[in-house]
Amino acid sequence: MTLNELEAKCKNCTECELCKGRTNLVFGMGKEDADIMLVGEGPGESEDLQGKPFVGRSGQLLDKFLAAVDLSRDKNVYIANMVKCRPPKNRDPKPEEQDICIKWLREQFKIIKPKIVVCVGRISAQRLIDRDFRVTRQHGEFINKNGTLFMGTYHPAAILRNPNNKESAFGDWLKVRDKMAELGIEI
Ligand code: URA
Repeated sequence: MTLNELEAKCKNCTECELCKGRTNLVFGMGKEDADIMLVGEGPGESEDLQGKPFVGRSGQLLDKFLAAVDLSRDKNVYIANMVKCRPPKNRDPKPEEQDICIKWLREQFKIIKPKIVVCVGRISAQRLIDRDFRVTRQHGEFINKNGTLFMGTYHPAAILRNPNNKESAFGDWLKVRDKMAELGIEI
């Protein structure tokens, strides 16, 4: 199955309440053969309106971090979220909503086969790396899960709220670049 075929199926999904509030499904975007995949929380208002992940203020900051280490959604990364429909008033996606929606993410992983998965923020890091993941303590650490490296970093929205974390977050993206070099991943 291709990502486009998977997205077409996902567009019909009504398995949780979040579908009722969506303007657009935000399935994900980027390269189908990307070695680096990013997983955020869920769409916000701009994302819901445009049907694309990380296109609001947070997304602009994320794109800057990516560009600084020669990554971009147009060239070499794929960006998705834990849930594909916008939670009302930008609340955190509920565990049960994530449990339902994660099957789409798993299918995305199977098609893209990323070598490195960057969990952008606490929500995806706690679901994909460790239930008790603490961003302040564990950001930037790579964990090998069945041959795929997972790393959690600050959510850009958290950096916009607290710019003191910007340098630490940038350090995490530099670690991604170093890890890519170590693994011989070409950009
Ligand atoms: N925040 C997220 O976690 N994902 C988006 O797509 C946008 C904002």
